[in-house]
Amino acid sequence: MQTHTLLMPLDMHLHLRDGVMLENVAPLSAYSFSGAIVMPNLVPPVASLQDLQDYRARIMAAVPNDYFEPYMTLFYKNYNRAFLQSVSDEITAIKLYPAGITTNSEGGVSSFDIEEMRETLDAMSELEIPLCVHGETDGFVMDREAEFMSIYELLATNFPKLKIIMEHITTKAAVDMLDKYENLYATITVHHLLLTLDDVVGGMMMPHNFCKPIAKRPEDLDALLSVALNAHPKVMFGSDSAPHPQDKKESCGCAAGVFTAPIALQLLCEIFEQYGKLDNLQAFVSDNAQSIYGICPEFKEIVLEKRTFVIPEKYASVVPMYAGQAINWAIKSVE
Ligand code: DOR
Ligand code: ZN
Repeated sequence: MQTHTLLMPLDMHLHLRDGVMLENVAPLSAYSFSGAIVMPNLVPPVASLQDLQDYRARIMAAVPNDYFEPYMTLFYKNYNRAFLQSVSDEITAIKLYPAGITTNSEGGVSSFDIEEMRETLDAMSELEIPLCVHGETDGFVMDREAEFMSIYELLATNFPKLKIIMEHITTKAAVDMLDKYENLYATITVHHLLLTLDDVVGGMMMPHNFCKPIAKRPEDLDALLSVALNAHPKVMFGSDSAPHPQDKKESCGCAAGVFTAPIALQLLCEIFEQYGKLDNLQAFVSDNAQSIYGICPEFKEIVLEKRTFVIPEKYASVVPMYAGQAINWAIKSVE
């Protein structure tokens, strides 16, 4: 039987939530990943050292003894230098949301006035704290990410020493930015390597494929595949796995988010194998992230095997992407 081994897989963009949801989903990520960048968009957001330490403790309590590192992030505000210095050892990055752009982002940034942000972003540059960005404007839904490119350019040129991560990119426009600015990097989800808008609303409306940013056009999908499959060194896997209870997805006013954490590595094997690029998967799911973030996860070895795996209908209250569908790769062992 064909197998494929991955070492220290990392999920560089993950929503773990809190409470019962955290208890349900954290073990699923901890099973197959060595670590994950944990998003701070709780209610209220993670925005102080105390919040962050308490949240980290709740995550550690929710995962089994298996080794799993939650790389913690703070919710971006215009923090002052002294505060950033005091938290710099405890955080891996700061996550910036434009206000109101997605789930629990109401307290985000409402103006990209560079002078208002300068103290924070200069201090982050000096302290080597990366800035993770949800890059969407409030424009027409298909154009939101492309419209945000001018803000990335503003940030990249004003803060050339700041590592800026364009999170969950979905467009050729974002892919094209990677080679334009040295300090721009990106994460890509597995669902954005599989879906276009057709898979969300092209036939019957598919709530479990609906997320922000929404899946785009075939040419965008091709651009994302080209950098992911070739393991472009500035691109990392970040699932953006975003669990919502089934009744919040299958409802009038469907919450944005695709739940993929427990099936992400299996789907990635399937995609990379399909294009004859399995040898590049290690860089995409771990090595690039280790270099970009300068992190060194504890040893973990995941062996996947090529056999039919039927994706469960549900993990606790959450319906995963492709629920009930058969895929070609399964996890064989984890050490
Ligand atoms: O689809 C999304 N869901 N996009 C985000 O940016 C946030 C996430 C969530 O927290 O549910
Ligand atoms: Zn996210």
